[in-house]
Amino acid sequence: MGRVIVVTAGKGGVGKTTVTANLGASLAKLGKSAVVMDMDIGLRNLDVVMGLENRIVFNIIDVINGKCKINQALVRDKHIENLFLLPASQIHSKDDVDVNRVVDVVSVLENNFDYVLLDSPAGIEKGFESSVAPAKEALIVVTPDVSSVRDADRVIGIVESKGILSISLIINRYDVNLVSKKKALNFESIVNILDIDVLGVIPEDKAIIETTNMGEILVNYLPGSPSAKEFGQIARRLEGEDIPIQLEKPKGFFGNIFRRE
Ligand SMILES: Nc1ncnc2c1ncn2[C@@H]1O[C@H](COP(=O)(O)OP(=O)(O)O)[C@@H](O)[C@H]1O
Ligand SMILES: [Mg+2]
Repeated sequence: MGRVIVVTAGKGGVGKTTVTANLGASLAKLGKSAVVMDMDIGLRNLDVVMGLENRIVFNIIDVINGKCKINQALVRDKHIENLFLLPASQIHSKDDVDVNRVVDVVSVLENNFDYVLLDSPAGIEKGFESSVAPAKEALIVVTPDVSSVRDADRVIGIVESKGILSISLIINRYDVNLVSKKKALNFESIVNILDIDVLGVIPEDKAIIETTNMGEILVNYLPGSPSAKEFGQIARRLEGEDIPIQLEKPKGFFGNIFRRE
C-alpha cells in the first residue's frame, strides 16, 4: 500500500502546488512511484507547473463520472518515468465533486503507487475536504509570515479533527536575510506556535518562479540549486532518513564576525 499525503495550508499562494510537484519529482528520483493529484477543481495549475497541460486528455471528474479509466487519465511526466499527474477539471466546480468518489479513486491509486500526493486548493471548504478525506498524512505548507502561520494553525486543528495524526510542516520561502532583519518570522517562532515536526525548510528562490513559468519542475531543471537539494532531502526524510535541517547563513554573516575580530 502506498502513502497518501495531502499538501495543504489554508492560505493560497504559499507554495502547495510547488511543493507537490517538486516533492513528487524528488520521490520519483529516489526510485519511488508517485502520482500527484490536482484537487484544485476549476482552477487547476499543477499541470502547468509541470508543463503537462498539452498532454491532458481526461481528468479526475471524467474518472469519477465513468467516462474513462484511471490509467487513461494519468499523464506521465515529460522527464521522470515513474511520476504521474492526475489532472483536475477546468470546467467543473469543487462542489461538483463527491468526496466519497475521490476516496474511491485514491484507494485504487494507493494500491498501484508508492506515494499519492494531493495538492489541495486554498480555503477550508469543499475542495479542501475532498483533498483531506482520502489522506492518511498531511504536509502543512507555511511561509514565514503571521497570516500564513495563523491559517496553518487553524488547518492543523481541522486536519487533526478528521483523524489524520501524522502531520508535518514545510516552511517555504524562508529568507534568512529578511529573518535576520526581523522582517519575517524566524524558524523557532514558527515551530513554537505550530508545535509540529518540521520536514523541511525551502529557501526563497527565484529559480522556482523562473522554472515554473517555463513549465519545468525545479528539481529536474536545476537539481543543484539549494531549494532543489532541500526538496531532495525532504523526500529522503519522508523515506525515514534522519537528515538534520540546516538553515542557510544570512549574507554578511562571516563579514560581521570578521569586523568584530
Ligand atoms: N520557495 C519559493 N521561492 C520563490 N518563489 C516561490 C517559492 N515557492 C513558491 N513560489 C512561487 O509562489 C507562487 C505561488 O506558489 P504556488 O505553489 O502556486 O502556491 P499555492 O499552490 O499554495 O497557491 C508561484 O509563483 C511560485 O512560483
Ligand atoms: Mg496551488
